[in-house]
Amino acid sequence: MANLITIKINGTEHKVPEGVNLIDAAESVGVHIPNFCYLKGMKGIGACRMCLVEVNGRSMTACIMKTKDGMDVVTDSEKVKEARKFVVDLILSMHPLDCMTCTKAGVCELQNYAYDFEIKDSSFTRKKFGFPIDDKNPFIKRDPDYCILCGRCVRVCKEQGTSVLEFYGRGVGSKVTTAADKPLHESDCTFCGSCLDVCPVNAIVEADRWRKGREWQYERTASVCLYCTGACDITVSTYKGDVAKVCAGGDDALAEHFICAMGRYGFDSLNAETRVLNPLKRVNGKLEETTWADAAKIVSEKIKGAGAGILTVSTITNEDALALKGYYEKTSVEHLAASVSSYSDKVSLIGDAVDVEGADLMVVAGLNPDQWTRFLPSIDALIRTKADRKTKLIVISSDDAKIAGIADVSLSGDEASLLKSLAKAIADAGLTLPAGLDVSGAAVTEDMTKAAELFKNAQLPVVITTPQLYQAAANLSLFKGTAVSVPYEANSKGVTLMGLSGKGAKCKDMIGGKATALLTVGNGPLPEKPKAGFWAAAVTNMTDIVKEADLVLPMASFLETGGTIVDYQGRLKKLAKAVEPLGQAKSVADIFAEVGKAAGIDISVKASDVESLAKETIKPKASPFEKRTDLDAVSLEIYEMVNAHVVNGSRLFWLKEVKKVAVG
Ligand code: SF4
Ligand code: SF4
Ligand code: SF4
Ligand code: FES
Repeated sequence: MANLITIKINGTEHKVPEGVNLIDAAESVGVHIPNFCYLKGMKGIGACRMCLVEVNGRSMTACIMKTKDGMDVVTDSEKVKEARKFVVDLILSMHPLDCMTCTKAGVCELQNYAYDFEIKDSSFTRKKFGFPIDDKNPFIKRDPDYCILCGRCVRVCKEQGTSVLEFYGRGVGSKVTTAADKPLHESDCTFCGSCLDVCPVNAIVEADRWRKGREWQYERTASVCLYCTGACDITVSTYKGDVAKVCAGGDDALAEHFICAMGRYGFDSLNAETRVLNPLKRVNGKLEETTWADAAKIVSEKIKGAGAGILTVSTITNEDALALKGYYEKTSVEHLAASVSSYSDKVSLIGDAVDVEGADLMVVAGLNPDQWTRFLPSIDALIRTKADRKTKLIVISSDDAKIAGIADVSLSGDEASLLKSLAKAIADAGLTLPAGLDVSGAAVTEDMTKAAELFKNAQLPVVITTPQLYQAAANLSLFKGTAVSVPYEANSKGVTLMGLSGKGAKCKDMIGGKATALLTVGNGPLPEKPKAGFWAAAVTNMTDIVKEADLVLPMASFLETGGTIVDYQGRLKKLAKAVEPLGQAKSVADIFAEVGKAAGIDISVKASDVESLAKETIKPKASPFEKRTDLDAVSLEIYEMVNAHVVNGSRLFWLKEVKKVAVG
């Protein structure tokens, strides 16, 4: 907790934390200091001169100042107002004055400051550049003529490790663009859209925003993306009942403040042609529309007792999971499994409380996050952002993990043996070997010694690993710090904590015919049609395999439901319904309530049950340095299978085709 100090802003005393950025400190007490090149969470660069203030009588740029006790700050003197007015005046001389039709009107920071300073047009001679527009992709439109050269996009892209944008040229004719001035789709751009979120003007905007409502007409909902493990915070903007855009949510100062192209554009799949809008049942070999009452009655008659099974994805909410469990228990269904049970169990997944954001050393073991293939993209961005902000990084990998390229120490080889050797090197460096840890026979190399020194000097090291390696890797946290197991679905931990880890036949066996009547929940990893005599599928979107089901139940997307999840760091996160479910789609909890009603049983979920179950943590204990071979590996292929319906029903399909990379 930072020390509180007293500073004066415009004559009023305020208590603020010591050593924080002056723009943020002023904002926290309700004083806005105008700025263009500043980005919360990043070091100020003092480039645009818009944030000029007087500190103890001297003109200073606020974005590069840290709060100190006794500071006397004036943000609104005539002198600073004139200086800012000059900056805006100069920028306007090079800016198209298109406010009537500009997409950014109303939220454009340049427009707002021009309004504040009452500048209608520039007093300087106007310049026109006529730079070409980059609009050959369906996600992002770049129009350099609107660019005010604040550099926010360049910095955010660089900090997260994608480094696609750069300044080219000098002075007023300079331009922000990609290497060799190529369009985005011919560059290394991942279309994450981080640059969109920070651009203060109309230079980088969503490609589909034209005439899709004004920002002030949007309703905003804070929620969580469930397309992958990242479970990123999102802000969903809706217009006339439809999703208009999705942005990164949460605190924009955090290294976690990121979403990938999937989270940003996957919402297209809500309105895709493949969307299932009504219950469907097979009649004379064909799927035909039916009512919810009829569909629920069929499920309640078929999915009960011996032979019946329920198989779910682990992207459902905790509330959904408890409703499903309630139905399973009350109807004596024989088999129950969530996809999470194929790649982890409680001991390989649930750990102690962890804070990746606050760590000063990251040890990444056996994980290969990669923004470009879209495998754990937000975890890749988080690691790269933290590394850029000077957090140390050790990568332990048996294959060529891309993230190793930015590591302080990269250890390549069998991960379990390397973890054992690292534990030995840490003990050799002077830390007490935890009781029960066997490091005998481990070989210590020079790089290992370097890694051990980093570990020894760290205050809050965090080990980030896979369920297969978790127990071996968590041994390091017995020295100090914490360890976290990264599964492959957004609510793998929540679903496990709610008690859906599996009873009776396993996932593969259920699909293979052990369940004679099967209900599958979600567009999950179904490599083939289940061999059950009766198969009901609750899905958001139709796929070739689901077309073969006996009954199809329309399921709501996570953007259409509320509830909670437990993310990979063990945090209970809240989802809020951003739009109403399309057609007759229902949340999983409502589907089970409906089916329960048909069966004459009450399926209700108590929020207190969710909260108490979600609280469980498991302290790691000394374990053998071994990789679990009884658990499936967390892989890109599984991601692709789970999210294929989203990619195929959205603009992401273009990306998959054009960039020829896997989109998961
Ligand atoms: S979309 Fe992402 S990767 Fe592409 S330029 Fe913008 S920030 Fe960089
Ligand atoms: S494109 Fe936008 S964010 Fe990037 S430098 Fe220009 S105005 Fe700033
Ligand atoms: S990284 Fe995963 S959770 Fe985050 S926005 Fe992308 S798909 Fe969603
Ligand atoms: S915001 Fe401080 S100089 Fe640009």
